[in-house]
Amino acid sequence: MNVSKPYIMAVCHQKGGVGKTTTALALGACLAERGLHTLMVDLDPSGNLTNGVGLMQATAYKSIADYLLVSEPLQSILRQTTIPNLDIIPTNQDVSGLGSSLYSLAQYETLLYRRFSQSELDTYDFIIIDCPPSLGSLTILALGAAHLALIPVQCEYYAFQALEGLFKLIRSLRIKANPDLAYRLLISMYDRRGLLHTRVLERILEKMSKATFETRIGFDSKIRESQMAGVPLPVYAPNTRAALQFRALTDEILAYVQAQSIPQPA
Ligand SMILES: Nc1ncnc2c1ncn2[C@@H]1O[C@H](COP(=O)(O)OP(=O)(O)OP(=O)(O)O)[C@@H](O)[C@H]1O
Ligand SMILES: [Mg+2]
Repeated sequence: MNVSKPYIMAVCHQKGGVGKTTTALALGACLAERGLHTLMVDLDPSGNLTNGVGLMQATAYKSIADYLLVSEPLQSILRQTTIPNLDIIPTNQDVSGLGSSLYSLAQYETLLYRRFSQSELDTYDFIIIDCPPSLGSLTILALGAAHLALIPVQCEYYAFQALEGLFKLIRSLRIKANPDLAYRLLISMYDRRGLLHTRVLERILEKMSKATFETRIGFDSKIRESQMAGVPLPVYAPNTRAALQFRALTDEILAYVQAQSIPQPA
């Protein structure tokens, strides 16, 4: 795999409420804290990521829709956050329209990848894309540009069924648009004392231990508080349990990315 800078991660799952936005925000803040220049992209018209850094979702912000459909230059859609090293491309209502317009564009799966390749993004070390809860065109757009699909999974009864559609989409994108697309599962909202959670986790690990991050994110009430405050968790409550877990996840991701960039013997 050719890992070029920036390394792009799409946080995705068609199921709502599994922790995509929480993960995107916390990882963005943890990478920025390490001095890594990080860009977050809000591809969800509901705007939770945009709100999560204290920006009020409003049509006044330009979004990824302006960049892709009107060819706005990157500089005019980027916004700095209050966190050093962390920038965002916010969302707005036009992103819903983008989702529908994409279907009529030829090879839209690679549109974001192509626009990113033409833009001056090499000052960024990481790009994190927060996807909406669907396997529609916006998620496809993100996966067409990503090195890694980061998939938060809750240890619930239907965890595997929920993943089938996403795996199918990843397989088809590898054939059509992005042969190097990798994926990793992240266990989110894990209750290690809950019997169902431990059983489902055992099943996930039986089948997919190599594709699952070792770090698990537990329940933490500070997450909701931090979202209400519009401040990413690792900044809002730096020492709370989930913030420490997201830092451990950041270490794991950095080690993973490093390993991908070492040439493998033929
Ligand atoms: N580890 C956690 N502990 C406690 N609450 C959490 C945790 N992770 C997420 N939550 C809460 O669960 C809810 C859903 O999380 P989040 O918005 O990150 O999910 P999502 O997958 O982005 O949802 P959507 O698909 O609707 O965009 C939020 O209210 C969030 O505060
Ligand atoms: Mg979300």
